Amino acid sequence: METSNPIYAETNRLVLRHFCLEDVDSFYKYRSNPLVSQFQSWENYTQKDAESFVNRQIVHKPNEPGSWFQFAIALANSNELIGDCALHTPLAEPRIVEIGFTLAPEHQGKGYANEAVGALLDYIFHTQKKHKVIAFTDVRNEKSIRVLERIGMRREGHLLQNYMSKGHWVDEYLYAILQTEWVDR
Ligand SMILES: CC(C)(COP(=O)(O)OP(=O)(O)OC[C@H]1O[C@@H](n2cnc3c(N)ncnc32)[C@H](O)[C@@H]1OP(=O)(O)O)[C@@H](O)C(=O)NCCC(=O)NCCS
Repeated sequence: METSNPIYAETNRLVLRHFCLEDVDSFYKYRSNPLVSQFQSWENYTQKDAESFVNRQIVHKPNEPGSWFQFAIALANSNELIGDCALHTPLAEPRIVEIGFTLAPEHQGKGYANEAVGALLDYIFHTQKKHKVIAFTDVRNEKSIRVLERIGMRREGHLLQNYMSKGHWVDEYLYAILQTEWVDR
């Protein structure tokens, strides 16, 4: 597997790195899994969707205002793709960024999301010097809520019927953490 891709952050067990073409099959496998898409807007994800997603990610860089950047989460010892972390840098206020995260089901329940999101927050606050990080989660997504609260993000809002998922308007919680809170924790 390609190992010369840029690495943005590292932990004992993981790396957050640039996506590469070799990731397409693993990415497709978990993205198309109904357990993974249960609380997401997409459904019926195809291999072609995965190919174009990875191809688009390869030419992106983090911190481009007006775009989402997806970090590949890979095992440090094998470089195998096990999930991804997303980073949205809005055009209107690029100092406040939004994150998201996904793990392949066979890699859940081991603390990898906690480790990856911690490394991502270090990168965002220490390297990119952002002011605030926010995240939205479906109010029914207990695993995601546990990740956000365990990492120290605060629930700042309950947004009624805030996104369309599988034909229904769904409530979301808004979570957030300030740079000062992360650095001083
Ligand atoms: C959200 C998601 C990433 C959470 O994954 P997860 O595996 O539950 O989260 P973590 O990797 O941090 O693992 C935490 C669990 O591992 C356990 N664990 C086992 N070994 C561990 C270790 N060495 N270190 C830390 N935790 C460990 C923890 O006790 C915890 O279990 P609990 O939640 O039952 O208390 C996953 O459910 C997912 O990908 N969902 C689909 C996509 C999605 O909805 N994303 C959210 C959008 S905002």
